[in-house]
Amino acid sequence: MDKIIVNGGNPLEGKIKIGGAKNAVLPIMTACLLAPGKYTLTNVPNLKDTRTMSELLIRIGAEVSYRKHTLSINTENCNNPEAPYDLVKTMRASFYVLGPLLSRFGISKVSLPGGCAWGPRPVDYHIKALKELGAEILLDSGYIIAKGSLVGTEIQFDNVSVGATGNVLMAAVKAEGLTVIRNAAQEPEITLLCEFLNKMGANISGINTNTLTIEGVSELNSVEEFEIVPDRIEAGTFLIATAMAGGKIELLGVNPDHLKIVLNFLEKVGSKVIIKNNSIKFIAPNKVLPIDMITSPFPGFPTDLQAQWLALMTIANGDSKVTDEVYIDRFTHVAELTRLGAKISLNKNVASIQGVSQLKCAQIMSTDIRASASLIIAALSAEGQSEISRIYHIDRGYEKIEEKFRNLGADIWRQRADQL
Ligand code: UD1
Repeated sequence: MDKIIVNGGNPLEGKIKIGGAKNAVLPIMTACLLAPGKYTLTNVPNLKDTRTMSELLIRIGAEVSYRKHTLSINTENCNNPEAPYDLVKTMRASFYVLGPLLSRFGISKVSLPGGCAWGPRPVDYHIKALKELGAEILLDSGYIIAKGSLVGTEIQFDNVSVGATGNVLMAAVKAEGLTVIRNAAQEPEITLLCEFLNKMGANISGINTNTLTIEGVSELNSVEEFEIVPDRIEAGTFLIATAMAGGKIELLGVNPDHLKIVLNFLEKVGSKVIIKNNSIKFIAPNKVLPIDMITSPFPGFPTDLQAQWLALMTIANGDSKVTDEVYIDRFTHVAELTRLGAKISLNKNVASIQGVSQLKCAQIMSTDIRASASLIIAALSAEGQSEISRIYHIDRGYEKIEEKFRNLGADIWRQRADQL
């Protein structure tokens, strides 16, 4: 298996272009199933997850091609409304096809995703809401089978769910009558999905609020060209890495509005942030101040940056707490950061961190996408040569991360399994 090797200690300096958002493009790729036709998506990152989603669309019967961050999808001949276990188990976002396939074919069969490295991750909100829209739902041999025609209704989510909001939106755009989703997710990725669906001819209002109203339409059309928003999590990862390693960088092609709370926290720990249109100039603090952080749905601090933030707090000048309120089990990085010399104690979903002046190199192991990113940025600031294994996780969500860090002056490279 490939490894990433890091010689820590170099400050980061230079400009970096941020790619398109993984979590925005995945549901939009599934939305293309709603109406037969040809679609072109631009600013699409080249990631393992986008390739897995392409593979899933191909199995459903779509033609998919990818070149220079442009994805072309033709869903005219789709005829197999099924998402098999071998794909869903490698990427939970495959579950997004449930709503669009049900809407287009009146039936959809999708493998239940099962657990993941950070807990059970249920799909009960998706199922309950689809039932409320009139779908008949069966569980057969590990597969969810959803059938029937949908009629608009009021859906109230108990907690905010990005995936369930997206799935229900896609199911409801062609349902008969009015659907209202209360306590809907307001993540920028959901906003973009709503904009894409409206471009397809859907009638969604309340975008950017927690109440989405969908007036069902009978026909949808394909979309000739649509640009994916910049990845706020990739951007936040590079900012936190620089706060940790020291230096100054400029992010290009970002949307600072999507990063408000993260920038606010980075300023609170002593960083300097200068925003100009779609760029962010960032200067690392001399000393990182300790600050408590609690994740919450957008516009709160994203759980997808919790691991990276926790890494930063390990070298803060004092004690801090990191609490994950979105995914209470998402702390597999704690044990690995401890191997680098971090002082962290974990009690349920609260990590208490005692800042140390310097992390030290170690052999460490990736456990999921964002945990991998936190280990890389911790290793960039640690003294000596660290080796990070199981880095296939990182390729799911970051395009050429080691090359991007190298361009900023980091001493980091990938050791391919065949070179070992
Ligand atoms: C998406 C993101 C993921 C991010 C997460 C939270 C994608 C592809 N993935 O995941 O990177 O970390 O949002 O911002 O966009 N829940 C239930 N039942 C459900 C659905 C969710 O209990 O049916 C719970 C989850 O266990 C979790 C919370 O709701 O505690 C939020 O999860 P959700 O927003 O649905 O996450 P995903 O859409 O899977």
